[in-house]
This record gives sequence, structure tokens and C-alpha cells, in this order.
Amino acid sequence: MLEFKYDRIHARIFENKNIGSEYVSELIRSEIDQNNLNSEPTVLGLATGSSPILIYDILVQFHRNNRLSFSNVFTFNLDEYYPIEPDDQNSYHYYMAEHLFNHVDIDSSHIHIPDGTLNRNEIESYCESYEEKIAESGGIDLQLLGVGSNAHIGFNEPGSGIESKTRLVQLDQKTREDAANKFGGLEYTPGYAITMGVETILRSKQIVCIAWGSSKAFAISQLFEDKISREYPITYLKKHSNVQLIMDQKAASLIDPIFYKTENTPTYNP
Ligand code: GLP
Repeated sequence: MLEFKYDRIHARIFENKNIGSEYVSELIRSEIDQNNLNSEPTVLGLATGSSPILIYDILVQFHRNNRLSFSNVFTFNLDEYYPIEPDDQNSYHYYMAEHLFNHVDIDSSHIHIPDGTLNRNEIESYCESYEEKIAESGGIDLQLLGVGSNAHIGFNEPGSGIESKTRLVQLDQKTREDAANKFGGLEYTPGYAITMGVETILRSKQIVCIAWGSSKAFAISQLFEDKISREYPITYLKKHSNVQLIMDQKAASLIDPIFYKTENTPTYNP
């Protein structure tokens, strides 16, 4: 593993996504464990997509081996397609139940995922209440974050502002194309989503951003450019003081080695 700091971002490049996922699961386990020991709740911000699947698998294993209880864990998911029914196999409700919630001892009243079934005129107040619930919970302790191939975070597509909050968004053509296979074609892929905003994400106390595979390499490389830009929402992470960026070698392949080949920064742990 190669570890280095860039700006305020703490980056780690793992040999492959399996080892990276083990690292992230341990991080989440220790956050929950620590809070459980102190009888404190843990508030997690959760991501979907293919990237976190192995992390959820490992967390389920921890639970099965009696090493981890989710009874005092509260969760807020980043996003959900709109419109979509929760029992649709492509919904993030379905995904979270399949990959995590059905297999651990979390109280269903602790789970929050944006609702893809609302009428249009209900969405605005719903989104405000989503923000309020996060605030009432004490704020997100650890936000797990993936990245889209177009550098989106959550469903904050290129053009999203740093002050954006939970809202209805139109999905980018690239995002819909990336999802089209799952939905059985572009014409069946939702055009909208409800997502936490950039500001919502940046209010988390800690952010753990994961990226596996060469399709993420370009998006990741934008983090290592000088500027913060609306074009590449992932670059907003540079505004946060506690971000871990966890990559495999392929996702890191377009980072200029100058960032980790200086005398002060590299730490090699074979
Ligand atoms: C979707 C999700 C994002 C996720 C992204 C990457 O767009 N809304 O939160 O980060 O997909 O997905 P994957 O992990 O499948 O590459």
C-alpha cells in the first residue's frame, strides 16, 4: 500500500480493491465499535453502486462473527433514483436491503434513504426534512462515498454548486449510460434522482471516498489538479479537512507520480 498526503487529502493506493475494501470495512467497524463501547450512536452516510459491495459483504461477515452490532447505528443514504419503487431491483432501497440491512441487526427506524415514490410537489419539503433529520441525528460521523466516471459524488452531477443541499436532480447523460445496462437499456433508465447535496456531504465529520478501476482514473486525477471546479464535483472534497481517498492501482493510474514520489510523503507497507 502506498500512502501520501495531497493538500488536506489523505490518500492510499492499494494493490487491488479487495485489500482496499478490507481496509475501509475495518475503518467503519472501528468507528462503530468505538461508539458502541461509549454507548454513543454512530451515524453513517452510505453509498451504493458496485464500489461498496465488498465493503458491505465484509461488514455483514463482521456482524455474523459476533464482532459488530448495528443496533445503535443510524444511516442516511446519499441518493435514490426518481421515480422508482423501493421494491424495484434497481432501486437503492432494494440494493441496501440486499447488501447490508437484511443481514445485520439495524433497527429499520434508523434507516434513511431518499424516497423515489413521492409526487413532484412533495419533493422540496421532503428534501428539507431529510436535511433536518441528518442534523437532528447529530450529523454524519462517517460518509462513505463513491465517484461517478464523470466525477460526480452522490448524484451531484457536473455543474452542482458547493452550497447544494438535498434535492431533485436531472441525471447526466453519461451517468444514465453508465446505469443503462442494469436497467435493460437507456430508455428504461430513470432521468432523475434525489441526492444529498455537496454541502450536505461536506458537513460530514469524516469522508471516505473509494475508487476502483480504470473507469475512475480520470475523475480521480481531477482531484490532483490545482483548482476546485463545478465541472468535477469530486474536487469539492478538497474543501474538507478529514477526507480519506482509498483507491486501487488502476483508479490511481492517472495521478502524476510527483505527488507521491517526493522524499517526505511516501510510506510503503508491502
Ligand atoms: C451512482 C451513485 C454514486 C456512485 C456511482 C458510482 O451514480 N449514485 O453514488 O458513486 O454510481 O458507481 P459504481 O460504484 O457502480 O461505479
